[in-house]
Amino acid sequence: NVRAGILGTGRALPERVLTNADLEKMVDTSDEWIVTRTGIRERRIAAPEEATSDYAVRACELALADAGIAAEEVDLILCATVTPDMLFPATACLVQDRIGATKAAAMDISAACSGFLYGLAVAHAFIISGQYRYVLVVAGDILSKIVDWEDRSTCVLFGDGAGAAVVGPVEAGRGFLSFDLGADGSGAMHICQPAGGSRMPATAETVAQRLHYLKMEGRETFKFAVKVMAASTEKVLAQAGLTKDDIDLLIPHQANIRIIEAARQRFGLDPDKVVVTIDRYGNTSASSIPIALDEARRTGRAKPGDLVVMVGFGGGLTWGAAAVRL
Ligand code: ACO
Repeated sequence: NVRAGILGTGRALPERVLTNADLEKMVDTSDEWIVTRTGIRERRIAAPEEATSDYAVRACELALADAGIAAEEVDLILCATVTPDMLFPATACLVQDRIGATKAAAMDISAACSGFLYGLAVAHAFIISGQYRYVLVVAGDILSKIVDWEDRSTCVLFGDGAGAAVVGPVEAGRGFLSFDLGADGSGAMHICQPAGGSRMPATAETVAQRLHYLKMEGRETFKFAVKVMAASTEKVLAQAGLTKDDIDLLIPHQANIRIIEAARQRFGLDPDKVVVTIDRYGNTSASSIPIALDEARRTGRAKPGDLVVMVGFGGGLTWGAAAVRL
């Protein structure tokens, strides 16, 4: 029986920092509002000429080096993104070419902020079925390119970046223990980019109406998030025969410090068991969990043998969780 686990991780973030003070000059907002309502102090923003694959490639190269796996050994690349370089071809194909993963199949996963967890679950299934040995899961989003910089209710929330993990066979006692994935399409319109698809192709009119920008019902998303973060975490723990006391590190999607704090309190976890990056990076969409995981591993906060639970939610609506022994 093959077991699958995380062999290496990497992350890539833009250098440019956009602070709350910078945003005060752009829209009617304040550092105080943003910090108390979201926990965000600053975020990273990509340069105008940069696209998602630029960051995805760097995160993948670091993850492969960390795992000690050559690009030519990768069997499948899964790229979780809602801001692909182009609607098609898949950004995963662009990454495949640029890293030289010549034998890898490649496809994108569209599950918004839950995309990395969806990717891990697909990678795990391919490996334990015996079909593939090494799967590269990369999440990258450049939401700054689809955010309406005149809409204060969304533009203060997001940041850009990418994170990646190499998933492959591991010895007994390590690896993924359980997954939970879910979707509720009845909430599809709570977070969406209305124009640019086949329902409403981009035209001068849709651009004039700002319909090519991300739209979000913040309050609805907030309520949904608090509910599914708790339920999904409970589910993966129960499936793995574990309790909240077994958690060494909780890595939640970084959307709002109040959502993270609700999950922490629900499970009675000490703050040092919950990874928080939102103050520095904002909500980096699908990338937030792998960026936090990579930081935790590289700073020694997540150690081999630790039981890590990752949990997230996002547009779709979607959610996901994974329990893994590093
Ligand atoms: N600065 C100042 N005031 C603001 C700002 C701002 N940047 N944005 C909104 N406000 C105002 C609103 O206009 C409103 O004013 P009003 O009461 O006069 O109407 C007031 O602040 C309160 O607004 P709410 O929307 O009720 O604020 P809330 O406390 O719900 O916080 C937030 C909003 C931060 C968006 C919160 O709802 C949230 O985090 N929701 C979850 C979002 C999320 O998790 N998204 C993840 C998915 S993203 C993806 O999948 C790509």
